[in-house]
Amino acid sequence: MKIFAVYNIKGGVGKTTTSVNLSCLSAADGSRTLLWDLDPQGGASYYMCVKTKIKGGSEQLLKRRFKVTDAVKMTGYPNLDLLPSDLSNRRMDFIMHNKKKPLEVLEKQIKPLRKQYDHLFLDCPPDLSMVAENVFNIADVLLVPLIPTTLSLRAYNKLVRFLVKNRTNKRLKVLPFFNQVNLTKPIHRVVTRNVREKHPIFLADPIIDSNIIEAMGIKRAPIFNYANDSEEAESFRSLWREIKERTHQEK
Ligand SMILES: Nc1ncnc2c1ncn2[C@@H]1O[C@H](COP(=O)(O)OP(=O)(O)O)[C@@H](O)[C@H]1O
Ligand SMILES: [Mg+2]
Repeated sequence: MKIFAVYNIKGGVGKTTTSVNLSCLSAADGSRTLLWDLDPQGGASYYMCVKTKIKGGSEQLLKRRFKVTDAVKMTGYPNLDLLPSDLSNRRMDFIMHNKKKPLEVLEKQIKPLRKQYDHLFLDCPPDLSMVAENVFNIADVLLVPLIPTTLSLRAYNKLVRFLVKNRTNKRLKVLPFFNQVNLTKPIHRVVTRNVREKHPIFLADPIIDSNIIEAMGIKRAPIFNYANDSEEAESFRSLWREIKERTHQEK
């Protein structure tokens, strides 16, 4: 099972939008895919219209009162399941801190999932919390959406420095990309151009700032459900293709 975490220290940058759309594309490829909504705000669960929450909350899950596989919900999309979130996810950090091995909590949780799924997508909450450190520990790929501003780049550099210093998981591949790009804004033009010249690690295809993408909040669905032929849907497909190429996926 390959683990793709969609993460940024900052909120509102497109983590949930990206994890919902990419997990759909992964499932459409025929890969058995699970999307785990780790954010207490539950955006991914909302977009996927999965109402049922985990019995007793994620607190019971982390305390291993029941198996993680029992908490998985079907989404109605072939090959795509969801582990929903609720407000109790905000206590995840606290619960992890109280464990003997706080950095290995998620690693233990996902063990039973490894055989059942080809891909696990983690829609992460913002912040450099214990949840994030657990994510860094298990992920193969860290997808980092960034809005092209100088402050976003500072936050990204901070993340990279943190990973260089603290990362124990040497598999982890960090793939940043730009989202909500509006090239009529001078700062977006300057930042996207400079960064791609200096840092080829950035994925080539930026996602533009678009009402069609934002409409996911109204439609409560992945973009492919209501605007499959749009350029925006194509840009997510192109992003997914590049991610697969850069991470040596077969499908
Ligand atoms: N490319 C985009 N164009 C327009 N709106 C976007 C785009 N990406 C995300 N959004 C909107 O920005 C807001 C934050 O996105 P979201 O994916 O929830 O970010 P995060 O999970 O990082 O907090 C949402 O209202 C979402 O619809
Ligand atoms: Mg989110």
